[in-house]
Amino acid sequence: MEFFTPFENPSVMIFRDGFDTQEKLFSFSKFFGEFYHDYNKYSEDKPWLFCLANEAAKKFVGDGKSNDNIGGYWHTDYGFLLAPPKYTIIRCVMIPPTGGETSLLDLISAYEDLSDEMKNLLDPLWTIRDWKNDGRNIVRKDISHPLVMTHPTLNKKHLYFSYRHLKINFQDKIGNELVEFLKNHVTQEKYIYTHKWKPNDLIVWDNRCTMHKVHFDFDPSYPRWMERIAIVGNETGKYLDN
Ligand code: OGA
Ligand code: MN
Repeated sequence: MEFFTPFENPSVMIFRDGFDTQEKLFSFSKFFGEFYHDYNKYSEDKPWLFCLANEAAKKFVGDGKSNDNIGGYWHTDYGFLLAPPKYTIIRCVMIPPTGGETSLLDLISAYEDLSDEMKNLLDPLWTIRDWKNDGRNIVRKDISHPLVMTHPTLNKKHLYFSYRHLKINFQDKIGNELVEFLKNHVTQEKYIYTHKWKPNDLIVWDNRCTMHKVHFDFDPSYPRWMERIAIVGNETGKYLDN
């Protein structure tokens, strides 16, 4: 098994090969903390398991629930919770011969490269997650997280937001220019790593200081199937009164 971290910081850990069973995913993930009971859970007896499987994979996945075409845009997982996951851990079960990669981006380096002036401007701001425009109605409340956080164990500052859902209140207006600036800034090539999966690969990403997206660029007649566990994180958000 090969191990590497694609960024300068250890926010993404990649294990090439070696996770050939769900049991190995499960027992390894326990080192990272407590599991969420997933909103998209696979089954009642495995409420911690989330299967990302396309239509062609469904006949292999079995009787449990699988979820198609999720995550084809930059996002962080469960950004609509007060306590979003610390880590997401994902194992590749089946992947088409070409395409279906997962890209990750580094929100620590993206923060560190900002000018001091921009850091001072952004440091006190909070993002708004507006549940009515979010397509998710699990938490029926608008919620806010700090745009800039200090990572509790790496002790480094980083940006935290979910690209598609980003809204910022700035000087009593929605800061559209800031939103555009941030989206363009963080998606520069130098912050991105794209993983070409092989079956039995496993990735652990720190869901606080990275974003990710799936490339739905493959022939859908091939199965793509991932198994995922999300690890409970600290409460960093607050509800907005409305
Ligand atoms: C996820 C996700 C990535 C993938 O599970 O949160 O976005 O490569 N999946 O399937
Ligand atoms: Mn995701």
